[in-house]
Amino acid sequence: LDVVLQPAPALTWRTIGGILDFYVFLGPDPGSVIEQYVEVVGYPAMPIYWALGYHLCRWGYNTSDSAWEVVKNMRNYGIPQDVQWNDIDYMDQFMDFTYDSSKFATLPDMVKDLHAHDQRYVMILDPGISSTQPEGTYWPFDEGLRRQVFIKDAEGRTLIGKVWPGLTAYPDFSDAVTHEWWYDNLKRFHEKVPFDGLWIDMNEPSNFLDGSTNGCPSDSLENPPYTPGVLGGLLRAKTLCATAQQKQSIHYNMHSLYGLMEAKASASALKRIVAKRPFVISRSTFPSQGMYSGHWLGDNRSQWKDLYTSIAGMLTFNLLGIPLVGADICGFSEEPEEELCVRWTQLGAFYPFTRNHNAIDMKPQDPTAFSPLARTAMKQALLLRYSLFPVLYTLFHHAHVHGHTVARPLMFEFPKDVKTYGIDKQFLWGKSLLVTPVLDPGVDYVDGYFPEGLCIQSSGEELPLQAPLDKINLHLREGSVIPTQTPNLTLWVSSGQPLHLISALSDDGSATGDLFWDDGESIDTYETNQYTYIIFSVAQNVMTSQVLHNNVEATYITVELASFYGVKEKPSRVLVNSQDASFTYRENQVLTVADLGLNLSQNFTISWM
Ligand code: GLC
Repeated sequence: LDVVLQPAPALTWRTIGGILDFYVFLGPDPGSVIEQYVEVVGYPAMPIYWALGYHLCRWGYNTSDSAWEVVKNMRNYGIPQDVQWNDIDYMDQFMDFTYDSSKFATLPDMVKDLHAHDQRYVMILDPGISSTQPEGTYWPFDEGLRRQVFIKDAEGRTLIGKVWPGLTAYPDFSDAVTHEWWYDNLKRFHEKVPFDGLWIDMNEPSNFLDGSTNGCPSDSLENPPYTPGVLGGLLRAKTLCATAQQKQSIHYNMHSLYGLMEAKASASALKRIVAKRPFVISRSTFPSQGMYSGHWLGDNRSQWKDLYTSIAGMLTFNLLGIPLVGADICGFSEEPEEELCVRWTQLGAFYPFTRNHNAIDMKPQDPTAFSPLARTAMKQALLLRYSLFPVLYTLFHHAHVHGHTVARPLMFEFPKDVKTYGIDKQFLWGKSLLVTPVLDPGVDYVDGYFPEGLCIQSSGEELPLQAPLDKINLHLREGSVIPTQTPNLTLWVSSGQPLHLISALSDDGSATGDLFWDDGESIDTYETNQYTYIIFSVAQNVMTSQVLHNNVEATYITVELASFYGVKEKPSRVLVNSQDASFTYRENQVLTVADLGLNLSQNFTISWM
């Protein structure tokens, strides 16, 4: 269907069929509209903790050793990395569920080494299954034929299209039998290469041919009286025939659901294989996708313009209930200048899903490929992200349970300030962290808009901010408390570090914040009460940490440090749980209490007078 935005303002819908269900979400504010929408389409899954770490990928690591080399260099430079990925290069002739036994001979060893360093491995899968291998040599196709899992053409023959491995058949994910076959393939491959997550691509579904090797029948489904503005001006362009047959209906009715159904099959198979929260990233998406996968924004270019538009893309998917989203950092096609890649890594450190990905034949663009200056700047941005892991993880909890956005447009928090409505160069994490990235070359400052209530002094104005190449501007909103941790090379290590609570007091001296904590990987911890939830509040010179829900998981974490910004007068005493404690106070109104050693799972107070 086409949806046309009219100047009226109004929307015109032009559809070639189907049933339209209309829901009107009344809000009243933007955040409530999204909560109501997400309640209908399904709450996004709680991600496994390492999904929020830094991911490195590229198309064109020619060998497993060259991918492994990058991982080792990252470790040597002390740059955080949680996940290494592989694109289609790892496969034998680009066929799913195989790996190239010469060029990628050391793949299983690399995966073993990643695991030994608390790192994870994710590889790509495309839906197209090679249909031209000699019988008996390629189990996925032979078995798929036997179980009749492939989409059929109008005459009932297996529909054949073309993707990376050449001619291919397409699994019909609308059939439960196909889900079982997909699981069996994944399980067999996992025994050889114990992957941790899945990257599902080309699932629009994409086809290098129009329709199939035989084209498509000529009828009113294939050539409707009106064709919406689709690629190629034909329904079958670069995809399957509308008349193709799937278990639940003709492809005409199922087309846009392909990526959703593949994600559902992939997530449920992974759950069975690894018995942890499944990690799946998909190119094609549909409403409800957030329940099964995250999303990357597809093939962009290494250009400043694409850096800028990635913000709108990220925010859009947060509105759609698919908060685990990010663009290819440093750009997919073309080669980024060093400065662009630094700025992109800084912004990318604030994508909910942060992955550097590069196209084949392009120069390396991982952090280790650049000058010491650039490398250090990238490392700092990633360490900053890792230090904020408790904040980000808690935001995902609220997305999962309440349908909140993680990356959030300013207008959501300041809906009465019309100046925030058009802002697409800044955004928030949750309600309290404002990100103002540099999006232009050759500058060491950036203009940022500060709505009233963002900082004590702000009254809704644009301010120039210093932004040297090694800095990204991050502002903590007045009235908030955030839990941070000492960052490390992986989230497994840094998520075990003691907490540092940072409070930015409002003019009246108050602030609030929270923390959700669990083991980071078990399925349904919230649903089965295997978590800890804590509220922090500051009022009248007293910080209270109140454990609203408690299980054992958080007891090994301590609170070591608390900093309070905006304490107007130097205190004479600080009490921690009614005991005198040492402290420091700086003229810029910062009170710091160190060496706290407080058990996170018990209520505590910090007060000053
Ligand atoms: C598609 C994907 C891209 C991937 C490439 C090769 O273009 O969007 O991310 O690198 O295929 O698999």
